[in-house]
Amino acid sequence: MRIAVIGTGYVGLSTGVCLAEIGHHVTCIDTSEEKIKLLLGGESPIYEPGLEKLIIKNMDEKRLRFTTSHQTGLEKAEVIIVAVGTPQQSNGEADLSYLVQAILDAAPYMEEGSIVVIKSTVPVGTNEKVKGILDHFGPKGGSPSVVSNPEFLRQGSAVLDTLQPDRIVIGSENQNAASIIKKMYTPLNAPVVVTDARSAEMIKYASNAFLATKISFINSIGNLCEAVGANIEDVSKGMGFDQRIGAAFLQSGIGYGGSCFPKDVSALVAIAKEYSVPFSMIEETMMINNRQKQLLVQKAQNRLGSLKDKKIAVLGFAFKPETDDMREAPSITIIHSLLTEGAMVVGYDPVATLNAMKIFGEQIIYAASVEEALQEADAVFLVTEWKEIKQLVLSEAVSHMKEPIVFDGRNCFSEEAVRSCEEIEYYPIGKPAIIIRKS
Ligand code: UGA
Repeated sequence: MRIAVIGTGYVGLSTGVCLAEIGHHVTCIDTSEEKIKLLLGGESPIYEPGLEKLIIKNMDEKRLRFTTSHQTGLEKAEVIIVAVGTPQQSNGEADLSYLVQAILDAAPYMEEGSIVVIKSTVPVGTNEKVKGILDHFGPKGGSPSVVSNPEFLRQGSAVLDTLQPDRIVIGSENQNAASIIKKMYTPLNAPVVVTDARSAEMIKYASNAFLATKISFINSIGNLCEAVGANIEDVSKGMGFDQRIGAAFLQSGIGYGGSCFPKDVSALVAIAKEYSVPFSMIEETMMINNRQKQLLVQKAQNRLGSLKDKKIAVLGFAFKPETDDMREAPSITIIHSLLTEGAMVVGYDPVATLNAMKIFGEQIIYAASVEEALQEADAVFLVTEWKEIKQLVLSEAVSHMKEPIVFDGRNCFSEEAVRSCEEIEYYPIGKPAIIIRKS
């Protein structure tokens, strides 16, 4: 099948590359010359394990092309996948301006009878609006059909999630178009849900909001565990074996971040308000998450008193491991609070430092290694559970610090690893603190 993908962000690029990998002929279009230049040179503009290898392979095998030109990219395209950003506006609603612009830019070059697939996360009813725009600006002979096909990939495992999805959701009023898109995904051998466009749009928001709520729920249970002296990890394990609950997304931490959960939860709140449907539970999900991001700073203040002039090492900037993305990362809230309290922050992340520099500028110090960040620190915050951080020999790591005080926001270390230290104050999430003094 000849496919054009508009937008080479996480979703667009991963989708385009993986569709080429399963045998389709794909052209990825982006208005950013900088991105397309990198991609034409076989380089991925985003950090995503395994992606660059597949870009080079599929370019070599002539199934994958990149261009900034809509005319070139849309030539003979049977399917046009739109995967541009739908960021959050100040009122919480999704901003559809990039999507509308992408449709308007592409419309003059679409072939008659082609299918436009909306992969971007969009409010319920948007696919119908896109159809209206295409009826007006699309090819005169027959305006393209529109199919909603939300994406469920996770950053950091985008390639795997795209090639082995849990399900594929296809929503359209046009049954023929829906069955062509179903066929496009046949090689993936995944369960397919075919429905109307509005339900497909809702599946995406409902899935992300449910997962975000699961995280806020387990974070609240974690806080309760800390108060009553229980252990959140054992509690999560004990709950997760119940197949109705499931073990995934039951890890207590310092709140969810990223470009999706915060934005999609806000958008769902806005949708519920627009239709006057009470949905306070999802608002609570959001509030719990905002509070959770402050947890490490509160714990540090409880232990150290004023943080003024204290040297705090922050390990991890990215919102989760295996990505350099810092959008809505808990590290941003944490570091800003530390700076407001007058602390001196030394941060380290294996891949997200360049993005951190764009946010914090010269307000913090950027270390080139964990050891450098820990030198003479009064305390350390473990913020992202990178493998490099989880694999540290804790006793050796804390030996570089002025005071071996560890606030672990991701429960990176086992009790055994902590107990092997000669001296440490270890404050995990949802578990009792471990304090070992030098005898
Ligand atoms: C999320 C969804 O998982 C994807 O299915 C969806 O396609 C994507 O949003 C999207 O809408 O595009 P992503 O934002 O890449 O994917 O990251 P996740 O792996 O879901 O993690 C989100 C946040 O939740 C992270 O900050 C992570 O640290 C946190 N989290 C996750 C927890 O705090 N506890 C957990 O148990 C799991």
